[in-house]
Amino acid sequence: MDISKDFIVYAKKTCNKTIFIKGDIRKINYNKKYDIILNLETSFGYYNDKTNKEIVKKFYNSLKSKGRIIIELINPEYIYSDFKDKLILLNQQNIKIIDHNILQNQKKYIKTLRIIILKNSTYKKIIKLRLYSKKELLEILEYVGFKKIKFYGDLSGRKYINKSNRLIVVGQK
Ligand SMILES: C[S@@+](CC[C@H](N)C(=O)[O-])C[C@H]1O[C@@H](n2cnc3c(N)ncnc32)[C@H](O)[C@@H]1O
Repeated sequence: MDISKDFIVYAKKTCNKTIFIKGDIRKINYNKKYDIILNLETSFGYYNDKTNKEIVKKFYNSLKSKGRIIIELINPEYIYSDFKDKLILLNQQNIKIIDHNILQNQKKYIKTLRIIILKNSTYKKIIKLRLYSKKELLEILEYVGFKKIKFYGDLSGRKYINKSNRLIVVGQK
């Protein structure tokens, strides 16, 4: 699921065996339907604390008993230790992306002005992401009711350390 039509169109091109839904995770209402929910590639943290917590509650309610949640985020400690106020990326399709970053609210948020430069056009968008620490994520998952909460530093299951560039949390209903 993604709120952005463009991401859904792109995802559909990469795999025809998966059902892709354009939708808003703030509004999901699946009662005990899933064995596992994967929220990957920093797809969590785009709202205020109250709404972000409500989203985790919705994940919880959508899981079957013993179902699992996996949330994969950028590790704030990694960002703080090597903060770059400007990042330039050139992807395989020759799309240039320039990010101007600032940390806000005692480093709890990273605000990015993203400039996407295509052959004949330029797009700008502002992204504000809540940078949740390991401790804060633990508090949210525990509050919502998750058990057996574990943290990892990458998707292959390496131990989470401050230097990990990812922060992955796994919880069980
Ligand atoms: C960093 S991108 C990750 C994109 C993609 N899911 C992936 O794994 O490569 C974060 C994604 O979260 C999506 N997103 C943000 N708020 C959302 C919401 N309320 N409901 C669904 N998707 C949302 C954005 O549209 C964006 O595509």
